[in-house]
Amino acid sequence: MSDSDDLESALLLAAAESDSRNIQPEIEEKTEEFIEEVVEQKSSPKTLKRKTPETAEEPSTKLLHSNEGFAKVVAYHYNQLEEKGQAERSKSRIVHLRNFHNWIKSMLISEFISKIRGSKYNEPIRVLDLGCGKGGDLFKWQKANIKHLICSDIAEVSLEQCKQRYTDMKHRNNRNRNGDVFSIEYIPADCTKARLREKYNDPSLRLNLVSCQFVFHYSFESLPQAERMFMNAAECLQPGGYFIGTMPDSNDIIARAKKNNTRTFGNDLFEVSLDFDTNDPPLFGGKYHFQLDGVVDCPEFLVHFPTFVELAKKYGLKLERKEKFYDFYERVKEDGMQLLTNTRSFEAYPPPEGSSLVGTAKDDYYHADEYLKSKGNVQIGTLSKSEWEASSLYLTFVFVKVKPTSWKSDGTPTYDI
Ligand SMILES: C[S@@+](CC[C@H](N)C(=O)[O-])C[C@H]1O[C@@H](n2cnc3c(N)ncnc32)[C@H](O)[C@@H]1O
Repeated sequence: MSDSDDLESALLLAAAESDSRNIQPEIEEKTEEFIEEVVEQKSSPKTLKRKTPETAEEPSTKLLHSNEGFAKVVAYHYNQLEEKGQAERSKSRIVHLRNFHNWIKSMLISEFISKIRGSKYNEPIRVLDLGCGKGGDLFKWQKANIKHLICSDIAEVSLEQCKQRYTDMKHRNNRNRNGDVFSIEYIPADCTKARLREKYNDPSLRLNLVSCQFVFHYSFESLPQAERMFMNAAECLQPGGYFIGTMPDSNDIIARAKKNNTRTFGNDLFEVSLDFDTNDPPLFGGKYHFQLDGVVDCPEFLVHFPTFVELAKKYGLKLERKEKFYDFYERVKEDGMQLLTNTRSFEAYPPPEGSSLVGTAKDDYYHADEYLKSKGNVQIGTLSKSEWEASSLYLTFVFVKVKPTSWKSDGTPTYDI
């Protein structure tokens, strides 16, 4: 049996164990008319259903939460996250989970860069990284050989770290005479409120790709914010260009909470606490608190996927694909096996002599033990059950821009499909 078969089976087992990927949609299906009606209410700033109880917030959150919404809380959280070096990151409890998510992003980005290249071979590729954070994807853009990158994020400290990473990457590249690095511009902004095009060095620029990794859900605090986020994603994207990303799967979130019969679920790695009634989740403003092992600890918002797709249409974006992380992995694992190994996205089980396992929960490697017993393998690569339970919360999405943006005389873009 090949290594890839081993890995696949191990992950399969992990997934079955975690009992999360077979979860059926739990959000009551809203009728198309209802969703249309909601997305048509142009700029009503109100939350569509319940208001989040203030009492659910921590003191720091309370101080920071103003009438402007939760953006400041989110920015504060990401700004105060320590920048850890490679060595420090590799000691983290979630090192493999992070690597696996980076692998997912790498595979998604390279798939759509290839598609863009395939249709227009010599065209310089221009990308917007919407919510770029500390620039965790800079190296992916370098590998993709793009021409220009716009990096935008609400967290100014993260954006400074992104600048530093880019500078370091450029120096390294010059030293090794590896050729040109793409040009870059940075835009500190709340992408759910600001119109990014007005801040571009060249507002007439045409983007080939917009990437929004683990960010879009912050905009579902309200309809106007989600609309502004879509406008930023779509306005400068040329027809045939792609809008790609990753975010939590709301069906999964609701299903797990219902299964637990409480508004809180998780494990030793992560915890999700919902601030709304799981039987009547709002289309916007469905706040929950997400905590992940010292990396994320802030409010997020539920993204009702049919609403997300309906809203996207208003901005000329047509859904091309939605895939849970597991299904994405299944589809591309063969092409990505080398990268999966190189990036240490899975952990060796049993661990090599002298090393220990990252997972500490009692049954974290039960699936791996069972697999080894049944197959007689000596060692396999896997994620711990706790990590898989966190990872399987997420999905990937891909939209294609099907209609060019046109502008009315007052500068308002129109792109309905
Ligand atoms: C989980 S991090 C992901 C960062 C990066 N995309 C990555 O994959 O490494 C989420 C990022 O979204 C950014 N973000 C959250 N709300 C935002 C908003 N309203 N406007 C711009 N960025 C936002 C945060 O500051 C943070 O950098």
